[in-house]
Amino acid sequence: MSSAAVQATREPKYYTVKRHLMQNIESLEPGSAVPTERVLAADLNTSRTTVRQALVELVAEGRLVRRQGSGTYVAEPKMTWPLHLTSFTEQAAANGFTASTQLLAAERIKADQIVAARLGIEVGEPVCRIERLRLADDRPMAVETSHLSATRFPRLTRHMKKEQSLYAVLDRVYSVVPVSAEESIATAPASTREARLLNTDAGAPMLVLGRHSLDESGQPVEWVTSWYRGDRVTFVARLSSPRR
Ligand code: GLP
Repeated sequence: MSSAAVQATREPKYYTVKRHLMQNIESLEPGSAVPTERVLAADLNTSRTTVRQALVELVAEGRLVRRQGSGTYVAEPKMTWPLHLTSFTEQAAANGFTASTQLLAAERIKADQIVAARLGIEVGEPVCRIERLRLADDRPMAVETSHLSATRFPRLTRHMKKEQSLYAVLDRVYSVVPVSAEESIATAPASTREARLLNTDAGAPMLVLGRHSLDESGQPVEWVTSWYRGDRVTFVARLSSPRR
């Protein structure tokens, strides 16, 4: 890398370094090692603090990965995940990945105010709470917590202890198919627990999806929160103009 590439511009210095690094990353294979902070600082004629700031952002954005005690490497490309009203299992298959699931919890709880409002039930009514780690090609993608009415879906926790796909169980056992949904996306830092489950650092940027789905008669089916690694996935929504 030549110092000529790091020119004086009005943008912050670290950003110039970051742009320069991004250009370099594009020409490298995933898994290639990135020079150390010290080497980059010398090459780019800047301070290690400036280089570090650029590297930290590139790691948070998923372009680079840091391995403790080893170094910094070019990351695998992000997965593109279209937003459709399909199951994780179907979506993974449509993207050419094999979905797998680790059940973290399957329990009956009492609905609090938020869950009761989402599921159209009374506060205190029984709810199935299912927490799962979702993987695509064995890479941990999301921690997903689903809430469904236990009165409407009796023995659901038992089924979910044996089966991978919630939507397959809903269809086969209860003849329920979600046909409409509202999906929200927000960002949040990973807690220590999510970070451990998703193999990342606490505080890493996450994309948090909230899905509230309804069946054909407009009855609520599920209220789900899914924490995705922000550095692993790009969500894509297809938009159409309401004027056409
Ligand atoms: C996605 C949705 C969830 C839904 C799940 C069902 O992850 N965000 O709301 O519950 O798919 O997936 P599966 O049928 O694979 O369990």
